[in-house]
Formats: sequence, C-alpha cells, structure tokens
Amino acid sequence: MNRSTLSKQINKEQIDSLKNNTKAFLTFLQTKNDGTIIYVLEKLGRLKNGYSKQPLLNLLNNKNETIRSLALKNLAKIGDVSLLDTFVKFAKQDESTEVRRESVSAIGRLRNEKTIPVLIKLLSDKDPKVVMQAIRGLLVFLNHDQVKKELSRLLNHPNELIKEVINKEINGVSYGSQNSGKHDEFPKYLKNTIVQGDVLETLKYVPDESVHLTFTSPPYYNARDYSIYQSYDEYLKFLEKVFKEVHRVTKEGRFFVLNTSPIIIPRISRAHASKRYPIPYDIHPFLVKMGWEFIDDIVWMKPEASVKNRNAGFLQHRKPLGYKPNAITEMLMVYRKKTDKLIDWNMHQYSWDKIKKSKVQDKYETTNVWRIDPTFDRIHSAVFPMELCNRVVKYYSFVDDLIFDPFAGSGTLGRTAANLNRNFFLIEKEVKYVNRMKEDLIKQDDLFNQKNNQPNFTDIKNFIKIIKENI
Ligand SMILES: C[S@@+](CC[C@H](N)C(=O)[O-])C[C@H]1O[C@@H](n2cnc3c(N)ncnc32)[C@H](O)[C@@H]1O
Repeated sequence: MNRSTLSKQINKEQIDSLKNNTKAFLTFLQTKNDGTIIYVLEKLGRLKNGYSKQPLLNLLNNKNETIRSLALKNLAKIGDVSLLDTFVKFAKQDESTEVRRESVSAIGRLRNEKTIPVLIKLLSDKDPKVVMQAIRGLLVFLNHDQVKKELSRLLNHPNELIKEVINKEINGVSYGSQNSGKHDEFPKYLKNTIVQGDVLETLKYVPDESVHLTFTSPPYYNARDYSIYQSYDEYLKFLEKVFKEVHRVTKEGRFFVLNTSPIIIPRISRAHASKRYPIPYDIHPFLVKMGWEFIDDIVWMKPEASVKNRNAGFLQHRKPLGYKPNAITEMLMVYRKKTDKLIDWNMHQYSWDKIKKSKVQDKYETTNVWRIDPTFDRIHSAVFPMELCNRVVKYYSFVDDLIFDPFAGSGTLGRTAANLNRNFFLIEKEVKYVNRMKEDLIKQDDLFNQKNNQPNFTDIKNFIKIIKENI
C-alpha cells in the first residue's frame, strides 16, 4: 500500500488516539502489516516523558530493521534515562547498521552525563555514521576535559567527514577567508574588463577574492586548432595552474562551473587506434585537492543530429566491442570554494533588495539534465549557447556580481552577464576572438553595449598598468 492510500486510511486524529491508548496501540501493532506500522511510527509526533513505552519496546524484537529503528527513534523522544541500557544493547548488538546508528542517536538525545562513558567507547566503532552520532552526543559535554581529550584524538581519524567536524569543533574555523573586504563588492577596475592575453600571465595581477562566479570551457586538449599542448600531461598541468589561480581569485564560498567533456584524438591510420581522453574525470581529483568542493554534475544534452555520427560502422557490422555511441552530452561540473560557512552565509552578505532582484522568477530547470541546442559561430568553433550561460549566471550569482571567464572565446558569458545585470571580467588569448567581441560592440542592439556598461578592452601591458595604479 502506498503512502497516499495509507494517509487516506489512517488520519492524524486516529494516530493521536492510538498513541494515547496503550491497549489499542498494542493490538494495532500486532494486527497490522509492516508498511502500516512504519507509516504510523513515522507520524507519531511528540512523546512526553512518562509515555507508556511498552508498545514501542515490543517492536524492538520485530524482524524489520526499519520498524526497530523507528521504534528506537520514538523511544528517544521520551527522554527517559532508564532506557539507556536498552539503547546501549541495540547500539552494540543489532545486526543492522541503521538500527545501531539510531540507538547511538537515542543515547545522545538523552543529554545525560551517564551516557558519556558509553559514547566515548562508541567513538572507536567501525561505522563512521555511528561515530558521527556518538560525536553529536558528546559535543553537548565539550566543557568536560575528558570528552574534549577523547574527541581531539579523532583529529587523526581516517574518515574525512569526522576529521572535518572535529577540526571545526576543537580548533574553530578550518577553511575560511583572510579577506576582510565586503563580499558583494569587487575591485572596480575589473568591471566589464576584457583582457587580451595569456590567462596565467593575466591572473597573476588579479587580487585574491575578486570574483563571484567563474563559468568556463577550457581548450579541449588539441581537439581544436586554437591551443596545442605537447602532451596530455602538460595540458592537465596547465589547467591545474589556471584553476588554482581561479580558486585564489574567487570569493569565499562561491562557485566555479566547469564545462568539459571527454574528447577523441583520431587515429593516424587504420593500423592504429584512436584515443579517448576522459577530461572531466582527470581534472576532478586535482580540483578537490586544491580546495574546490564538489557540488553537482549537470549534463548538457544536445540533439543527436547536431553531433558527429560515430555509428556508421556498427550500424553495418553489429559486432560486439565495436559499439560506438554518439556523444551528445557535455559535463558542467559545479564546485564551491571550500569554506566552513554554509551557503546561507553567502546569501546573507547581500541586501534584501539585491536578493529580491536576483530571484529566479520564471520557469527553471528542475533536473541535472539540461537539453540545449549547441550554437555555431562564424568565427569561433566552440562557443557557449546563450541559454547555457543564462542558466549558470541566474542560478549561481546575484545581480551586480562579477562573473569571470578565463577562456572567454567569443565572450558569450560576458554578453549574458551584462544582459542579466551582472558585471563581467574576461580573458582571451587570441586577438581574432577579442576582435570578434569588439565587432559586436558596433551593433547598437548588442547586449555588451548597454548604457554605463561600456566594456573596457585592454591588452595585458595596459592591464598591469591599471592594476598597479589601483593597488
Ligand atoms: C572552448 S573555447 C571557449 C569558448 C567560449 N566559451 C565562447 O563562448 O566563445 C576556449 C578558449 O580559450 C582560449 N585560450 C586557450 N589558451 C589560452 C590561454 N593560455 N590564455 C587565454 N585564453 C586561452 C582559446 O583561444 C579559446 O578561445
């Protein structure tokens, strides 16, 4: 029976009357199926100290682990220290990890000093979630020297989440900003600036924590003619350096959206194989290591007719192992600059008026599959579709923010940012692509060309001069 049918059969009043009538509750639990019992246990609500425990205690022998764990969860609400031994028994012995975690949580919820020795013992449990629940219970007693000492030992725990929680609780902030500047502001000399130059050269002169959002599509290792690398290793090392700099210039807790996809380098002759490079998967590990926290993976899906057909051979021969799907997706990997602060903190850095203006009002994409047609440009061979930039800018920035693209190409991100009342900062190495951006400016209706939003084109020499004058 599904939940909506159950909710029609058992309403809140019936659950309340069962809850307050031990005999009726016992009979109900003996006669109903597991699904119904689980539904009622989930809806039981508050239970006061002194509540009759017997019906719930009986359920601790139930074969179904979800029922046992919900029974423990409800028993914990009663706040009765005499249940400590029962909780300890299930924390130690139950075969289900779900039940063990719930038991440890129940011990913690007692908030009683008697629980300290057992919670300390549970800190050496093998299941990190059990340890986490024990930590939660012990944090209430952090002013006890022994508790602090035992929790400090976990600074060397192998589990990364445990280490992070303990570091924050014992040592205070573990990741954070040294910058005292205002979060919603940025250096004015970067406003709507387009630098023609090498990304690493240019970024050297950009101050720490200047940009609110970076969205970029880097060169795809020798797949197009605009950038050549001697080896894949050299390519990855180059990107590592760039994204370390992007990390440095990004404001605390803000986002970096990286668009890449695996690419193929065709074979030189029929005697050799072509090679496929899994770019997003190779970049990901070093991004995390340098301090980007992985947030989401979004798939950009294109119509099949718009991509290269790899099916011709298989269509004829149909032999296994020779299968080659048409690659209609690219990845948008979403990262956040690692910080102890929650995303709420970032939101609170803006005035109510700015938040209101930035709200995503219209229809928005609810899934991580974004179906968007590619755009073809007469000058640049790999431009972002405007719609892709629209979504990233709207979902991951506020109005008046500074949006950055270190590999700007034809400047699609800049145009979108201006259109959405954000500011942009772009870097592009190739003069022909920068000229393509300049050409757009001549058009009266171009989005770059907004009042008070005149872009500032500069080469790297002039950019360095501007920076030096302003620092
Ligand atoms: C995939 S394209 C970006 C296209 C862009 N998203 C658009 O909408 O037009 C990558 C761009 O990075 C530029 N690029 C490559 N190496 C660079 C470097 N070292 N410094 C600056 N730009 C570079 C290339 O010239 C190319 O235009």
